[in-house]
Amino acid sequence: MFALTEDHRDIRAAIREIAEKEIAPHAAEVDEQERYPSEAQKALTAAGFQAVHIPEEFDGAGADAISTIIVIEEIARVCASSSLIPAVNKLGSMPILLSGSEELKRQVLPSIAAGDAMISYALSEREAGSDAAAMRTRAVADGDDWVLNGTKCWITNAGVSTWYTVMAVTDPDAARPAQGISAFVVHSGDPGFVVGSKERKLGIKGSPTREIHFENCRVPGDRMIGAPGTGFATAMATLDHTRPTIGAQAVGIAQGALDIAVDYLRERRQFGRSLAEFQGLQFMVADAAMQIEAARTLVYQAAAAAERGDANTTFLAAAAKCLASDTAMKVTVDAVQLLGGAGFTRDFPVERMMRDAKITQIYEGTNQIQRLVMARSLLR
Ligand code: CAA
Ligand code: FAD
Repeated sequence: MFALTEDHRDIRAAIREIAEKEIAPHAAEVDEQERYPSEAQKALTAAGFQAVHIPEEFDGAGADAISTIIVIEEIARVCASSSLIPAVNKLGSMPILLSGSEELKRQVLPSIAAGDAMISYALSEREAGSDAAAMRTRAVADGDDWVLNGTKCWITNAGVSTWYTVMAVTDPDAARPAQGISAFVVHSGDPGFVVGSKERKLGIKGSPTREIHFENCRVPGDRMIGAPGTGFATAMATLDHTRPTIGAQAVGIAQGALDIAVDYLRERRQFGRSLAEFQGLQFMVADAAMQIEAARTLVYQAAAAAERGDANTTFLAAAAKCLASDTAMKVTVDAVQLLGGAGFTRDFPVERMMRDAKITQIYEGTNQIQRLVMARSLLR
C-alpha cells in the first residue's frame, strides 16, 4: 500500500468538508460544556459516515479499513470526541462481524448502518483494565436465555448507544480465565440493563464515558456472539482491527495541532521577524511533520494488514496505536509551545488537542500493554 486510491482521496475530501463546516465550529463548545457532539452525529449520519465499515450485505457502505481510518482521522483533526462516533461503532460491531451468526448480524448491523442505533464495546472493569481476562461480570444460562450480573466501566458512548457488545464469564472453572469468557450483544432495553454516571475527564470531554450495570439482565440465547468460551479471543481479535483506528484518531489530532501551529508561525512576528524564520521553531515543525507521516504510514499499513488477515497483524496494530499516540502527545505539547501564551489559552484549540491526545496513549490498551503485545509477538 504505497498510494491511496482515487476513492480514498474522494472520501478524504468529502469528510474533510463535513468536518470543517459542520463539526469544527462546535468542537470548543462541546469540550467546554462537556456535552455530546450531537451536531457531529447528525452531520455524519446525514452523510452516511457514522459507520462506513458495515458491509453492503447488511445495508452498509461497505467501505474498506483504510476508508474508515481516513474518516476517523479527518474528524479527529478538528474534534477528537466526535471521531469516537465512527471509531466506537466499528469497535462495538467488530466482534459481531468477526464471530457472530448470520442471524445476529442481520439483527444488529443494519440499524447501525442506517444511523438508527450506535454500538459500544464493554470489556473493561474497575479491577480488570489491562488485565482484561480477570473480569468478574458473570453470565449464567437460564433456559434459552443468559442472565448477566456485574459492572463494566469506562464504556465510551454508554447511554447514547442502543447496542453493547459485552464480554462476561460463563465458565469460572475454565483451565485459563480467558477460555471461560463469552461475548454477548445487549440491547439498552433489555431488563436489568442500567447506565451509570458520567466520568469527569481531562480530555475527549464530548465523548460520554460511563459505567454500565447488569442487574439480573436477561439476554436471549441467540445474542451470544460465537460459541461459549470464545469471547476473549474475539475481543482481542477485534482490537487487532481497531487499535489502528485509535492510531488514526491520534494522527488526526496531531495533524490538526500542527496545521494550527504552522499558520500561527507564519502570522506571528517577534524581534521584527516572522516566527517562521526562527530555525529553532522550523526544526520543531519539521520533526512534527516527519513523525506524523511515519505514524500515518504505519496506521494505514496496520489497518490494511488487519483487513487482509496478515500474520503480523497483532504486532502492526499494537505498533501503530503506540507510535501514533506517542506522536500525538509529543506534537500537541510542542504545538502549545509554538503558540506561546496563546497556546495555553482556550482561544486556540491546541490546548484541547493536547488534553485529547493523552487518552490515545491509554485506551484500547495502554502503551505499556502495546509494548507487551509487540514483545510477545517478537519473542514467542
Ligand atoms: N487474536 C485472537 N486471539 C487472541 C489474540 C488476538 N490478537 N490475543 C490473544 N488471543 C487469545 C489467545 O490465543 C489466548 O487463547 P488461548 O487461551 O486459547 O490460548 C487468549 O486470547 C488469552 O490470551 P493471552 O494469554 O495473551 O491473555 P492475557 O491474559 O495474557 O492478556 C493482554 C493479554 C494483551 C494483556 C490483553 O489482556 C489486553 O490486550 N489488555 C488490554 C485491554 C484492552 O486493550 N482494553 C481495551 C478496552 S476497549 C477501549 O479502551 C475502548 C476505546 O478505546 C474507545
Ligand atoms: P491499569 O490496568 O490499572 O494500569 C495502570 C498502569 O499500569 C498503566 O500505566 C498501565 O500501562 C500499567 N500496567 C498495567 N499492567 C502492566 C503490565 N503488565 N506491564 C507494564 N505496565 C502495566 N474500555 C472498554 O472496554 N470500552 C470502552 O469503550 C472504553 N473506553 C474508554 C474511554 C476512556 C476515556 C477511558 C479512560 C478508558 C476507556 N476504556 C474502555 C478502558 C481502557 O481500555 C482502560 O482504561 C485501559 O485498558 C487501562 O486499564 P486501567 O485503566 O484499569 O489501568
